[in-house]
Amino acid sequence: MSIRVAILTVSDRSARGERADASGPALAAAAVERGWEVTLTGIVPDDLQAIQAALVDWCDSGRADLILTTGGTGFAPRDVTPEATLPILERLAPGLAEAMRAESLRVTPHAMLSRGVAGIRRRTIIINLPGSPKAALENLTTIAGVLEHAVELLNESPSAEAGHSR
Ligand code: MTE
Repeated sequence: MSIRVAILTVSDRSARGERADASGPALAAAAVERGWEVTLTGIVPDDLQAIQAALVDWCDSGRADLILTTGGTGFAPRDVTPEATLPILERLAPGLAEAMRAESLRVTPHAMLSRGVAGIRRRTIIINLPGSPKAALENLTTIAGVLEHAVELLNESPSAEAGHSR
């Protein structure tokens, strides 16, 4: 099953063109490797309104089944990706964030410092990933295996039922 994926890089420096975005392309490559289609990509600064505007636009236009954000989940004062995401979610999906942090703790205690959230708006799943390419890919790898079933459930696909026997 092919998921339509949108990737939003949240970084002041990349938005200003001071640093090449490594995480967005790395996530896109990982998505394509899984047979998913990358329908949207973008870079916004660590600005609550800019992050929210992109997320709302991408969800409400129905152009993506899954939005992966990367960056802005840490403790720096400008890290506001979770605060931008939470108010625009209609339903929470805490299990995804719990699984990512639990698995990441096996890699580094710094996993405790990622405040990323996950949830659903309309027919789109939004997941906050950390900012470094390494961290973003490790976190995606943890949850990637359940995302196709999640999208099927969200779209009330008849094949979703079959996934429950697995
Ligand atoms: N998770 C994994 N799997 N691997 C990592 O290297 N880095 C952590 C954490 N999660 C990391 C990880 C670090 S160092 C930080 S500060 C937080 O994610 C938040 O990252 P962000 O501020 O770039 O979003």
